[in-house]
Amino acid sequence: MGLATFVCKIVINVFMSGKEIIDLAPLQGFTDFVFRRCHHQVFGSIDTYYIPYISVGKGKKIRNSQYRDVLPENNQGIPVVPQVLCANVDELRLLADELKQLNYSSVNLNLGCPYPMATKRGRGTGLLENDEMLRAVLDCLFSDYDFQVSVKFRSGLVDDQTIFKEIDTLAAYPFSQLIFHPRTARQMYKGQANRDLFVRLASELNRPLVYNGDLANAGDLDAIQQAVAGQHHWMIGRGVLINPLLVNQLKGEEFSDAQELNLKAQFHQLLLDNYREVLQDDGHVLLKMKQFWSYFSQSFENPAKVFKPIKKATKLARYMEIYPSILSM
Ligand SMILES: Cc1cc2nc3c(=O)[nH]c(=O)nc-3n(C[C@H](O)[C@H](O)[C@H](O)COP(=O)(O)O)c2cc1C
Repeated sequence: MGLATFVCKIVINVFMSGKEIIDLAPLQGFTDFVFRRCHHQVFGSIDTYYIPYISVGKGKKIRNSQYRDVLPENNQGIPVVPQVLCANVDELRLLADELKQLNYSSVNLNLGCPYPMATKRGRGTGLLENDEMLRAVLDCLFSDYDFQVSVKFRSGLVDDQTIFKEIDTLAAYPFSQLIFHPRTARQMYKGQANRDLFVRLASELNRPLVYNGDLANAGDLDAIQQAVAGQHHWMIGRGVLINPLLVNQLKGEEFSDAQELNLKAQFHQLLLDNYREVLQDDGHVLLKMKQFWSYFSQSFENPAKVFKPIKKATKLARYMEIYPSILSM
């Protein structure tokens, strides 16, 4: 996305379609190009789809599945931003060169991945905690490339005060967006994101901060807006997996029960059709659909009752037989 388009998009969002700018959080294993394509086609409500990270794997190469996910032909017509997970300048260069080759003009830096496999190698929150390496990576990213750069970070590895030290480093660079998920890496995804921490950082930092973590309804946005005046930029992940209409609703669209059901059915049919085309193997498709239902079932009154028959299905054919009636439960 060029700078002019980007600025234009923000202006349109702020002045024409209500105030909220809502991006999709990257969720490795869930929000892949098939999901993004289907979601965009049915709902068209998300401002930017952040692609789950790419990283340097065996033989200094990007894994095939990650590479396929960033290929422009798989993301045509969808506002996407790819994300890099790196430990040092060499890894950054390898990933950034690849994205440049693919003609990307924006990139997001992952300083939030909490998994020990990543953090112990100095990636994700591990890089956030290594100030010297972080500066080297940022110097390279901002001086040797012309990407528009955003960054997504947690509060620290174990200590949630770390971010208050590291924010000076981040604030010294011209990021297009600073996206804060107020949990430590040790917390993984458990408990509640710490909104007070977000409020404090937003007030200490003299520039806009995107909020990310546990947003499920308009009340969540309101509560944060009460504490941070002018907060209108959000990133949502699991909330969209649970309720794919969430972003439309948060932007003020209203749906009857019948419309809601119809859109959800349309979306799930499209997901299923597309995964059958892309994955081919029925077992893989079934597994994929079960993974989605582990979240999607949470939007029903009785999640366990909804998820049980889906979990029990051992063949894709069986799943295809039962899922339409479960949708209307
Ligand atoms: C299964 C899963 C995969 C994730 N993959 C990524 C990723 O690739 N990059 C990233 O920055 N964050 C990743 N995250 C974190 C989310 O982007 C987001 O920060 C987190 O889920 C909190 O937001 P939410 O409560 O709206 O889901 C992942 C989270 C989950 C649960």
